[in-house]
Amino acid sequence: MKVVRTIGELELDGEVGLVPTMGAFHAGHVSLFEAARAENDIVVASLFVNPAQFDEESDLARYPRDEGRDAEIAAATGVDVLFAPSADEMYPAGFSTWVDPGSTGSEGSARPGHFRGVATVCLKLFNIVRPSRAYFGQKDAQQVAVVRRMVLDLDLGVRVRVLPTVRDEDGLALSSRNVLLSPSERERALGLPRALAGAVGADDPVAAARAALNGLEPDYVDVLDLGGARVLAAAVRVGSVRLIDNVIVKGALP
Ligand code: PAF
Repeated sequence: MKVVRTIGELELDGEVGLVPTMGAFHAGHVSLFEAARAENDIVVASLFVNPAQFDEESDLARYPRDEGRDAEIAAATGVDVLFAPSADEMYPAGFSTWVDPGSTGSEGSARPGHFRGVATVCLKLFNIVRPSRAYFGQKDAQQVAVVRRMVLDLDLGVRVRVLPTVRDEDGLALSSRNVLLSPSERERALGLPRALAGAVGADDPVAAARAALNGLEPDYVDVLDLGGARVLAAAVRVGSVRLIDNVIVKGALP
């Protein structure tokens, strides 16, 4: 596996699958790498903790980073190129063009500016890497909706693949932020997947999930459309860590 830090050094010949990431790899990322490996000649994983999508300074400062470990995991999963640019490489002096993704649902309202940063960096990565396919996790359902809309609206021609959320045995959705939870916070965090799972099939899944959150304060609980699927999504804060999760209540992931 080659680690590439500059746009100029990227030379890709063949059909490319891109897995955009912010590092701190877990089994969810590995499932994206494996899916990309199965469908493309070349697999590129980008590793860039994108400052533009953090709406809280403290969240950016403590976001987990371990490039050495990430490189080992990526190489072992068949990633060909790890594209790990600096912030200056992605946002050089004078950078001033942004993608405004328009309406971005409850998650967008809870995190002003977040999806502008996500859409901008994804468009840049698509233009830099020119992938045939790009891979995202269902856990970030609103992100998937934003990227799909952008691909359609801007005629990008990238196929957006969505892989199911990977969970720990107890049901907690894998997230790079989980390492920031203390043992007791992690226990409380289980209230989120349990509330969502219990609300599937309810007449009013939003009300059912809200009622089952067991004292966890939600930023929102909402139902959103993800292609052919209806997804019950929520965000909660456990201590200082914000967690999101969702379950399909109708249909299937496209
Ligand atoms: O899901 C993520 O890790 C990020 O939002 C992404 C898609 C890599 C853009 O920075």
